Amino acid sequence: MTDTFPAMVISAEEGRHEAAITQLSLADLPDNDVLVEISHSSLNYKDGLAISGKGRIARRLPMVAGIDLAGVVVESRSPDWKAGDAVIVNGWGLSETEWGAYSRFQRLKPQHLTRMPTGFSPVEAMSIGTAGYTAALCVLALEDHGILQGDGEFLVTGAAGGVGSVAIALLAARELRVTASTGRASEEDFLRGLGASDIIDRHSLSEPRKMLQAERWAGGIDSVGSHTLVNALAQTVYGGAFAACGLAGGADLPGSVMPHILRSVALLGVDSVMCPQTRRARAWALLERDLDRAKLARLTTLAPMADLPRLAEEILAGRTRGRTVIVIG
Ligand SMILES: NC(=O)c1ccc[n+]([C@@H]2O[C@H](COP(=O)([O-])OP(=O)(O)OC[C@H]3O[C@@H](n4cnc5c(N)ncnc54)[C@H](OP(=O)(O)O)[C@@H]3O)[C@@H](O)[C@H]2O)c1
Repeated sequence: MTDTFPAMVISAEEGRHEAAITQLSLADLPDNDVLVEISHSSLNYKDGLAISGKGRIARRLPMVAGIDLAGVVVESRSPDWKAGDAVIVNGWGLSETEWGAYSRFQRLKPQHLTRMPTGFSPVEAMSIGTAGYTAALCVLALEDHGILQGDGEFLVTGAAGGVGSVAIALLAARELRVTASTGRASEEDFLRGLGASDIIDRHSLSEPRKMLQAERWAGGIDSVGSHTLVNALAQTVYGGAFAACGLAGGADLPGSVMPHILRSVALLGVDSVMCPQTRRARAWALLERDLDRAKLARLTTLAPMADLPRLAEEILAGRTRGRTVIVIG
């Protein structure tokens, strides 16, 4: 085993959070029960906030960033895990309260580990990562609400991003009609290739409009929030539903109760971080069954850990396409 290894560590510099690649040793890692050698991680919007210092994601310092990991158990004091087990972790406070994924080695709490889904390689599992698994949680929320059938139109906002691109592929796999809302007209071919049958300009949803508008969407998946989500709800058909997971356009919700009380429209909140293991298992099973591997490869870019500072700025500016896998090992 190597004496030292690189990790992306966040520390405080004159009151600001700053991230830098730092050499750590095993003795620096927290005293958790399972030591994992990490091969791959990924880039999520939250990682962009943490690395750029634009969001105070880390709640104690120093903190190793990175909310997703794929790796292999090296040593375990837990009866649930043994050396050689292939594992993933998504969320569970990594990069917030628990040291995270951008590190060759990490010691983790046994209850935070999930067995590597059998149908995916480590690269594919991280290509999905938190964004893709959250897209699957959103699909499950709509499925449990009973609306994933028929010939209605489903809207996916933030379409060319991580959550959005996987959400399109998953809804299209069910032969649903999917409309992609994007600010990047240049991504039309990419989005149609994932299964979008129609594209709309995101600016048509981003300004304040009437509390109730012409009914269009049977439902959808929103990772943008603010006026975009409010307008989407105001355009949803009677009994429809939106699964909401993100705030790329804003954390506010400047709307009215009208779609909910006059059209029985449901707003289904989705959290991936503290989601119980049983629901995670359902989401990963859905991904194994429905996610087209060729589409997954098309929406994935690989990058080294050294690129993270640049990529953090890019994802916050909405310039990354699909998902970025970070090669660690
Ligand atoms: N609840 C959870 O557990 C959970 C889990 C994962 C992610 N999230 C949240 O979901 C959101 C998306 O995450 P992600 O990893 O998919 O990020 P991402 O890859 O950056 O995707 C976000 C997309 O939103 C669109 N967008 C960016 N800025 C916008 C703006 N100002 N107004 C309208 N649209 C904008 C862009 O798509 P176009 O270029 O196509 O318009 C962008 O690609 C983030 O807010 C993230 O924090 C939440």
